[in-house]
Amino acid sequence: MKTKARLLILFLSVSGVCVFWREVSQYVLPQEQRSCACDRCLFENDTLAIERLRKFPQPFLSSNYSLPEEDFKWWRVIQRGGGNISEYRQKMSRVFQLIPDNSPLEASIPGRCRTCAVVGNSRNLLKSHYGPFIDFQDYVIRINRGRSKGFESDVGNRTTHHVMYLESASQIDNTTRPVLFTFKMRDLEWITSVLSTQPSGKKSLFNKDLAMVLNPAFMRNIHQVWLQKKGAYASTGFMALALALHICDEVHVFGFGADSDGNWSHYWEKVPNKKVKTGPHPGKVEYEMIEELASHQVLKFYTGW
Ligand code: C5P
Repeated sequence: MKTKARLLILFLSVSGVCVFWREVSQYVLPQEQRSCACDRCLFENDTLAIERLRKFPQPFLSSNYSLPEEDFKWWRVIQRGGGNISEYRQKMSRVFQLIPDNSPLEASIPGRCRTCAVVGNSRNLLKSHYGPFIDFQDYVIRINRGRSKGFESDVGNRTTHHVMYLESASQIDNTTRPVLFTFKMRDLEWITSVLSTQPSGKKSLFNKDLAMVLNPAFMRNIHQVWLQKKGAYASTGFMALALALHICDEVHVFGFGADSDGNWSHYWEKVPNKKVKTGPHPGKVEYEMIEELASHQVLKFYTGW
């Protein structure tokens, strides 16, 4: 009898605990495991709402990465740079003797929402007053000759990442990450020479310890999959935007859009260059793609003033 009573008490206690836990758990545990703390997390379930856009595994190069031959072939002709793959690998390994190996992309963290501002160079930024909101984001990505001085209220003044290539490079802050784009073999030599021939006392263009180099296979993926092979290849701005979707959980896009003559005029230029249009890049397709991504709430697009 005593044993039966004990068993009954034990049974009732266990049932009680189970019922209590079932009731309480719906308040203390999340209904579904979120990959980040934003309203919406990019690449959750590995899609960007647009089926063909999948997360690219390695947007940046690293010393032990071997560029596939077909990606090299695509890259070699975009600016008719020539060269062969063994030459490429040799030059790239010299680059990695000078810059650190990038750690793999940080995965999303359930309790965090990493936000990016991607700032293109369009004149539509003028009088926008976006500056404080741009500076408020965790990462602020600027592109080519994009600058802050004199335009702070419209474009902000923080820069955490600066995208550049040989012809667009300018002096950047020691704490800003240089994100180096290469389009031809000479660009690899440029990186090596910038970093190895600094006469003592002269400030380097960028901090080599923070440098990252974009993977040509990622560039090809953006052109062929995201932009469906339109134009010769994607603009630096569009690739920077795609990159932001890989390093942040929430992406805010500013400063994209041609002027009324269809030119990619810049906010710092008084007289826009009327002949420039959008160069070899599919400007209209890129703009429509940004609008489409915004309509799917993949990113937030600010079209300026
Ligand atoms: O012209 P630039 O290459 O310096 O500008 C950086 C990027 O900003 C471009 O690659 C393009 O994607 C974007 N841009 C734009 N509309 C402009 C100027 C630039 O969409 N009027």
